[in-house]
Amino acid sequence: MLISSKVLNGINGIAKIPGDKSISHRSIIISSITKGTCKITNILRSSDVMNTINAFKLMGVQIEKTKETITIYGKGLNSLTKPKKKINLGNSGTSARLLIGLLAAQNFEVDLIGDNSLSKRPMGRIINPLVKMGADILSNNEKLPLNIKGKQLTNIKYFLEIPSAQVKSGIALAALFVKNKTEIIEKHITRNHTEIMLKSFGANIEVKKKDKYNHIYVRGQKELSPKNIKIPSDLSSAAFLIVAALINNNSHIIMTNINLNPTRDGFVKAVNLMGGNIIIKNKKNINGEIIGDIEVKSSELNGCKLSKDIAKLMIDEYPILAVAASFANSPSIFEGLGELRIKESDRLELIRYNLENCGIFCKIIGDDLLIDPTNNFSPIKNNIKTDCDHRIAMAFAIMGTKLGLNLNINDSEYIKTSFPDFVSVLNSLGGNLTE
Ligand code: S3P
Repeated sequence: MLISSKVLNGINGIAKIPGDKSISHRSIIISSITKGTCKITNILRSSDVMNTINAFKLMGVQIEKTKETITIYGKGLNSLTKPKKKINLGNSGTSARLLIGLLAAQNFEVDLIGDNSLSKRPMGRIINPLVKMGADILSNNEKLPLNIKGKQLTNIKYFLEIPSAQVKSGIALAALFVKNKTEIIEKHITRNHTEIMLKSFGANIEVKKKDKYNHIYVRGQKELSPKNIKIPSDLSSAAFLIVAALINNNSHIIMTNINLNPTRDGFVKAVNLMGGNIIIKNKKNINGEIIGDIEVKSSELNGCKLSKDIAKLMIDEYPILAVAASFANSPSIFEGLGELRIKESDRLELIRYNLENCGIFCKIIGDDLLIDPTNNFSPIKNNIKTDCDHRIAMAFAIMGTKLGLNLNINDSEYIKTSFPDFVSVLNSLGGNLTE
């Protein structure tokens, strides 16, 4: 599918942002192994999340959908059953890393497959700690497809060097099935939705800050108690509209009920640093997650320097922040973006390639990205290459709203993995995208 993106005259109104993708996945996984019924509202209805739902249906979990709610009838920690066929996780890295952990600890065998992009992504990062716990996993060179022979695992103390919430969560889910205490030490702070949700479901999980690292302790073999979950809306999806409002004159938008968890809010800090007109209102804590409303107006943006420490708090937002930086009045440098190379695509390279084709000077220096809009040259192409990556597609659709050149976004159907209504939401505010 192709989206064509044209210049617009500002966006205005209240933007309806879908449920948080990370929390949606966790709500299904954790409810499915709870003893009791959980009702989930504002879940993200995207293909990635549907892949997680289908996986648990295949493992015997009863899941009912209505327009407003998803109800999961959990039967307890040891209630999952062997699926009759391979579990296909499509494009979803979060489903894969989290489920590998959970499945390694079951009492049955399962095969995991995914689409082309997922089958190229590194799974060694989750397989290796699980193997230390005694897991039996056969892989294709540490990539999907995987064959997992579920086993009784043993506890470990694991120092997690890479900044990955997916890996941390996969180990924590495996640890729910292990009696003795598992300890995960995270070198870098990453999104903590798994810890928050497990705690609220009564799991034996504790997080302590010691010698500058977070130590996460899990004692498993304890049944989880059911909870209803109201999922906040996704800041990572809101980010596309925020940048559309910032860079286009005459814009003023409001988004309510957005997830502002401090392990996820680096993007808001970055926009503030760039001088963006962004206001956070009505902040509240709901079951451990911080939620609030965001108001954004057109702004004159400055370039900024972002250190590698902030990268962990906003890793998914760099494609759209790069678009914002392309319309700033000074250069930006974003440091420590190595992890961007192994997302749904090599995002670092695709940002560079597409920005350059849009006439924006940029350069990758090691793992850092320099964007210098003061050094403009002429656009080379108006075709955006996405390599089937939803966030590259949405970021450059927003680029097209300002560039003054119609942009054609290739393979834009992948937007359905995280924000299926992206085109209609943007257009309802005054956007000008055609499919
Ligand atoms: C996610 C963690 C991040 C992020 C992804 C969602 C999660 O991945 O990029 O979109 O829900 O845990 P990594 O764990 O690979 O950093």
